[in-house]
Amino acid sequence: KIIILDFGSQFTQLIARRVRELNIYCEIYPFNHLPEFDPTVKGIILSGSPHSVRQDEPPHFDYQRFRDQYPILAVCYGAQYLAHFHGGEVQASSTREYGRANLQYIQPGNPLFKDVPSNSQVWMSHADTIVSLADDFEVIASTDTVRVAAYQVKNSKTYGIQFHPEVTHSIDGKQLLQNFLVDICGCVQEWTPDSFVETTIAALKEKLGDDKVVLGLSGGVDSSVAAVLLHHAIGKNLHCIFVDNGLLRKDEFQSVLDSYQHMGLNVKGVDAKQRFYDALNGLSDPELKRKAIGRVFIEVFDDEAHRIEDVKWLGQGTIYPDIIESVSVKGPSATIKSHHNVGGLPDFMKLKVVEPLNTLFKDEVRKVGRTLKIDENILGRHPFPGPGLAIRILGEVTPEKVQILQEADAIYINNLKSAGLYNKVWQAGTIFLPVQSVGVMGDERTYENVVCLRAVESLDGMTADWCHLPYDVLAKISNEIINNVKGINRVVYDISSKPPATIEWE
Ligand code: XMP
Repeated sequence: KIIILDFGSQFTQLIARRVRELNIYCEIYPFNHLPEFDPTVKGIILSGSPHSVRQDEPPHFDYQRFRDQYPILAVCYGAQYLAHFHGGEVQASSTREYGRANLQYIQPGNPLFKDVPSNSQVWMSHADTIVSLADDFEVIASTDTVRVAAYQVKNSKTYGIQFHPEVTHSIDGKQLLQNFLVDICGCVQEWTPDSFVETTIAALKEKLGDDKVVLGLSGGVDSSVAAVLLHHAIGKNLHCIFVDNGLLRKDEFQSVLDSYQHMGLNVKGVDAKQRFYDALNGLSDPELKRKAIGRVFIEVFDDEAHRIEDVKWLGQGTIYPDIIESVSVKGPSATIKSHHNVGGLPDFMKLKVVEPLNTLFKDEVRKVGRTLKIDENILGRHPFPGPGLAIRILGEVTPEKVQILQEADAIYINNLKSAGLYNKVWQAGTIFLPVQSVGVMGDERTYENVVCLRAVESLDGMTADWCHLPYDVLAKISNEIINNVKGINRVVYDISSKPPATIEWE
């Protein structure tokens, strides 16, 4: 595997994704929190950073310790760091070095640039520039404005590059990474969804033996894939619980429960609708609604988990981005705290935790799901928030509003599917607005509710653009909703992007 040391760059996770796209396993660690390196580590990549080597106390890396042990690829800040603290100099750049540039010079025969054509386009994004190098560093690539676009430490496998090979604007970035990983580090490209499934199931068997595991299914991709992996490893010893909180989409509880049973999972469906509605009664503040739903879920899950005798483990669908330690925000101290609360936790939370997906990114979870032949209906599903329709009903939630919203939402989603748009949209849903408006139906004046349609394109939910859905599709959806859903006389479309808006309204 490859270790990526994170100095806080926004691109660090992208480097990891690129390495994995080359079927090579890698892990990200904060620059100041190195793991014990094991014999499977073949090389190190140093990320970029918002910091500058010229500031007080720049993030440090102990180069001397690793220089002869591992091949090192230092990107952007990493490259500036090695240059600056080993006999060279870094200064603020005088020209703008942001955006596309071309490698006018590439050292002939350098293994890092094998099969990278001359004049290859690269992507620069830096405010500092390397102005001089120590004698044992040599320039191996330049652009017309950046002389030290790439360097090598002579007689070593240390390389520094000023541009970002991980972004697609660096046309040959993937080739360059492959050269480093395969030719220089000696990695074998064998980390695939199939091999992940095989080794994970074997490891789970070994770890869990005859122990019982309890796992909460949500209908979403992550918990479903985690459950199927565990099911392959321990069969009926995996006890799944799927809670109907009364806030799911129309008919979703039953249809998802059916698919789970169809896949052979040992799953219990629990109808807890009324408990959730009771807890939500009278609440209109979004955060209070979220807290109430979280609390009731834990109570229901704890009750159910108690019915399973002798359960030892809690299975979870946690994925890699949830656990990557971010460089400045979370330190080790953040995790220490939660241990102090153990006494107050529900019993199931005192179980040992097993998280089969905690090394995977979201797109990898889907690929693993396909290898496991999980229903495309589950794998291709839009993200759906844990608190469900409760945060799509602005203000107080009542069973009547849930029912109205479910009907409108079903019409919306079905139309997206039949127009072939569902898979092009990252997330879609309807929002029940806390206003009533005047309308006219036949000869009658109406005074009824408004629903808003929301559809966004996004990669990870952090930023999002509203979708330009075709007018004729919107027209058909609006007509169908107003004609069929009693209680709604107006449909609007949300044309806000994130930021500054958010995807959900609450
Ligand atoms: P926002 O509204 O913050 O949403 O732009 C980003 C993504 O997160 C989902 N979301 C939630 N998911 N519990 C969840 O499990 C929540 O309380 C919650 N709030 C928002 C949202 O659906 C979108 O995918």
